[in-house]
Order: sequence, then C-alpha cells, then structure tokens
Amino acid sequence: MILRAWRGDITTLAVDAIVNAANEALLGGGGVDGAIHRAAGPGLLDECRRLGGCATGEAKPTGGHDLPARWVIHAVGPVWMGGDNSEADLLASCYRRSLEVAVGLGARSVAFPAISTGVYGYPKAAAARIAVDTVRAFGADHPDTIEEVILVAFADDDLTRYVELLAADRGPVAGT
Ligand code: AR6
Repeated sequence: MILRAWRGDITTLAVDAIVNAANEALLGGGGVDGAIHRAAGPGLLDECRRLGGCATGEAKPTGGHDLPARWVIHAVGPVWMGGDNSEADLLASCYRRSLEVAVGLGARSVAFPAISTGVYGYPKAAAARIAVDTVRAFGADHPDTIEEVILVAFADDDLTRYVELLAADRGPVAGT
C-alpha cells in the first residue's frame, strides 16, 4: 500500500472510495459531510436515509452518485471530550473499519479527510498520528488489497503535519 498526503477538496478526487466524516444520523451536516452531499447530489441523501444511521467508530458505504468517486464510505468519528472517553480507540476504529468496508467493496484507492478534527474538535496532531499509524498497520496486515490511501488535508498546516509524519516514520511512503 502506498500512503500519501494531498491538500485539497476531497470531493474532487477520482478515487474508488472517499470517506465521509459523518455523524450517527448519516443525514448530512456541515464541513466535509456537507461538501460531499452537495457534490454528490440528492441521490446520496436518499440512499443514506435507508442505512438507519451508524454508530461512532463504525462505517457504512453508499454509491458516489454525482461524485467522481465510485463509493462514499460514511465513517462516524468521536466527538472530542478531553481524551478519556475512548476517543483515540474510536478514531482508530473509523480508519480501520473504513478500510475493511473498502476491501469488501473491492476498492483499490481510498481517500480520507481528517475525521473528527473539525466540528468534533479532535486535536489535529494526535488525530494525524492515529490516521497514519492505523492506515499503515492495516496495509501491513492486509497486503495486496488496497493499493493507495490518500490522507486529504484541507489546510496547509494539516498537510505539513501529514508530510512530517510520513517522512519521519518507517513503512512504504510516497511524497505529497
Ligand atoms: N475536503 C477535505 N477536507 C475537508 C473538506 C473538504 N471539502 N471540508 C472540510 N474538510 P468536519 P468532523 C476538513 O467538521 O470534525 C459535520 O457536520 C476539515 O478542515 O467536516 O468529523 C458532520 O455531519 C477538517 O479537518 O468533520 C458531523 O456532524 C476535517 O475535514 C460533524 O460535522 C473534518 O472536519 C463531524 O465533525
């Protein structure tokens, strides 16, 4: 698996699956969730209504509708409540479960936003470390499944954080 970071709008990526930072209702919202629903069109909300919500730390797939991506994997990150409420485990679970769902779909390329780091208030440096470590561990445990994972940064400092983590650590790494 190649893991890389990219700065921009996740809704523009023509990957097999993009991950949404959703909430338990799966009925849209602000942030990246709002952007994905706007770009995908109303068919996405119709499909989400049939999913019956999603627990925190879990993920469920839909089609991509009008997006360039074939699928959207809706993951529900934890709300940051100080760090003693299993936030780290739940955030890692989001990345792991999204990748398991992606493998089930047959997706070979997956892009993630920085789940929980906006409205949900997860500290960005800690969240970036969990994203990198969890995706890397999944790639090591599941060779020959997903070829490429893109960690999407929406701001320059988010990209810098990912690039530093990718450069500093072991494992298969590509640039930005
Ligand atoms: N492409 C990539 N990243 C983006 C984009 C985009 N188009 N837009 C925002 N981000 P957030 P959360 C980044 O708040 O913290 C929603 O209302 C953003 O800069 O979207 O998991 C849901 O419905 C930040 O780094 O998600 C939930 O109720 C990251 O995406 C709740 O917010 C995540 O920020 C979920 O909160």
